[in-house]
Amino acid sequence: MKPGVLFLISALCIGVTGQMAPAFAEDRDARREGRALTKPCKACHDLRRKKRKFGPHLVGIVGRPVASADRYKYSEPLKALGGVWTEERIATFINDPKAYAPGTNMKFKGFNDMTKAHLAAAYLARKSAR
Ligand code: HEC
Repeated sequence: MKPGVLFLISALCIGVTGQMAPAFAEDRDARREGRALTKPCKACHDLRRKKRKFGPHLVGIVGRPVASADRYKYSEPLKALGGVWTEERIATFINDPKAYAPGTNMKFKGFNDMTKAHLAAAYLARKSAR
């Protein structure tokens, strides 16, 4: 192989890994932050098992109809929301629960920061996936 070709190949490799490394690091940071942000949720919610705590379990919450955990007594305002939870809806809800569902029993003050709410919702979506 000509030295010029070898140089080109190594330059390409450096280019590719150089671009990928920050993306991986970002992903890992986002996950770490998501985990930290969802710590308070776990006091009231089980994400992995269909067990009720103070709040309903959140197993498979993305794609699940609102207020549909078995034998959980939801508030009227939450039931009235209707539809299905998407990651985006969850982010909006946890950003400011009282604004999204006035009168909800979820006593969580909210992030009041959509960037954090999105990170938490993304982490929740991954952790609670069936
Ligand atoms: C202090 C306890 C508490 C904390 C902390 C809490 N929740 Fe909740 N959550 C509840 C309760 C209670 C409900 C049911 C609300 C109702 O019926 O109005 C609920 C409902 C929900 C629902 C709707 C579930 C369904 O079946 O429709 C989602 C999604 C949710 N919480 C996500 C979260 C996330 C994410 C966090 C953390 C950022 C969090 N919650 C923090 C108590 C809590």
